[in-house]
Amino acid sequence: MSKPFYITTAIDYVNGQPHLGHAYEKVVTDVIARARRSMGEEVYFLTGLDEHGQKVQQAAQAEGRTSQSYCDDLAADWKRFAATLELTNNEFVRTTEPRHKAVVQAVLQHLNERGHFYAAEYSGWYSTRAETFLTDKDRRPDGTFDPEYGDVVELKEQNYYFRLKQHQAWLIDYIEKTPGFISPDYRRNEVLGFLKHNDLEDLCISRPAARLTWGIPLPFDPGYVTYVWFDALTNYITIPAALGDPGIPAWVRQGQPSEGERPVGPGLWPADAHVIGKDILKFHAVYWPIMLKAAELPLPKRLIVHGWWQKDGQKMSKSTGVVVDPIKVIAEWGLDAFRYYVVRELDLGPDGNWTDAGFESRYNSELANGLGNLVNRALSMLKRYRLGVVPARHDELASAAQVAILATRQHYEGFRLQAALVETWTLVTRANQYVDQTAPFKLAKDPTQAARLDEVLYNLVEVCRLLAILIWPVIPQTATKIFKQLALPGSPQHLAEAAWGGMASGHTIGEIAALFPRRDQTPKV
Ligand code: ME8
Ligand code: MG
Repeated sequence: MSKPFYITTAIDYVNGQPHLGHAYEKVVTDVIARARRSMGEEVYFLTGLDEHGQKVQQAAQAEGRTSQSYCDDLAADWKRFAATLELTNNEFVRTTEPRHKAVVQAVLQHLNERGHFYAAEYSGWYSTRAETFLTDKDRRPDGTFDPEYGDVVELKEQNYYFRLKQHQAWLIDYIEKTPGFISPDYRRNEVLGFLKHNDLEDLCISRPAARLTWGIPLPFDPGYVTYVWFDALTNYITIPAALGDPGIPAWVRQGQPSEGERPVGPGLWPADAHVIGKDILKFHAVYWPIMLKAAELPLPKRLIVHGWWQKDGQKMSKSTGVVVDPIKVIAEWGLDAFRYYVVRELDLGPDGNWTDAGFESRYNSELANGLGNLVNRALSMLKRYRLGVVPARHDELASAAQVAILATRQHYEGFRLQAALVETWTLVTRANQYVDQTAPFKLAKDPTQAARLDEVLYNLVEVCRLLAILIWPVIPQTATKIFKQLALPGSPQHLAEAAWGGMASGHTIGEIAALFPRRDQTPKV
């Protein structure tokens, strides 16, 4: 079997509701997945949930329920959220599933047997809320800890540690020699700066079961559960292992629920891209590669690190009420308006700022007056003047279209999603200008201009077909509607069909409806 392009999102903490940041990451990953499928590549897209840890245990306790049933309920919400976003994920992994626990335990066992871990006693200041030991560096100038840490208590504990120092040199070397490993470049430089100027401290990979039970037990010491990040990062190999990826060694698959009857699955690992936010870069660029190297597994090919959204220039927070609820926006404006805005507004890398005015402005100018108006004018005129029948081929806009198609494709290939939309919209703008310049409504009044009107109408209807294909990865509902209005068989999901002249003369288009009704109200988000 050929290797599919294996792409993942971060797995979200199950406690808490999905917000704009989660939605953004899932949408951009979906756009990359759809774009590559559209270019003919086989893609395997994984997303999921991170369900262990103190916060979940405490939240479940507060509701008087078991942690598992608490997670099961929330997982249903998160899966619905993925469906609302129309993600094309192939799998949804949950870290409380038996197949995941088996892989985590196999990796822990393997590393322990090879001497990567040691037990040691540690005493220090522990924040229950942050689930972490604090150091003097975390103290405020007056010597106290920030109240955001909650109760901070002195704690002495025996734990297991992962030896990291021996990995520092090769990791620096690897990141330097593999420029594409972390993008954008400034994130790569950030990791290199960190690795070059700090000694890596050994990573505590356990938590005593006495204070945390909601975790995966260490296979070599049942008095402990696994640190959530060690558990969570492993999700990326759980699914390849469970599917029977021949590139995943047999020892990883030991203890799998379906061991024995294992099919030979697709070769997924190493992942082609992990899409993550900037706050979890160190886990993915330092700990995860070291875990894999220690386990003698290949490293992922690329980390795509996106920035963080704010709303109105402020950090989003439930307590201040500064939030964007993606589900509400979608209910009011439609899924495609949401997907379009987040991809068009924010390039993969920098931080972004959501404003309702900005959202409304892009909706009206780029979707309603831009794409929507073009398709509506083109198809209405074809109906009115030619009874919906496509005239003979004519190539006046062919070169403009080919330029936009080529550039859009190159941007999709290079993960430059915002740039892909900008390029596609040059064609929207060009075609709208073409309507204004050629004035088909005037041509229609002059019988001597019938042939010219045919030419103009062909160019417009063909541009609509091409645009549907180009926009499909980002706004698939709209692309599908355009194909339906054009009464084209098949679907707009093959970029190879974005070549000038595909619209057959003599074909009759279907029913027309507005794609983006104009809205003059501010969204209530
Ligand atoms: O970190 N803007 O989960 P999480 C953009 N479980 N992205 C944002 C964001 C914002 N305002 N807020 C969060 C975790 N994100 C771990 C991941 S992966 C093995 C384990 C992004 O629910 C964040 O950067 O806190 C991360 O990539 C994702 O949402 C999940 O965050
Ligand atoms: Mg977070």
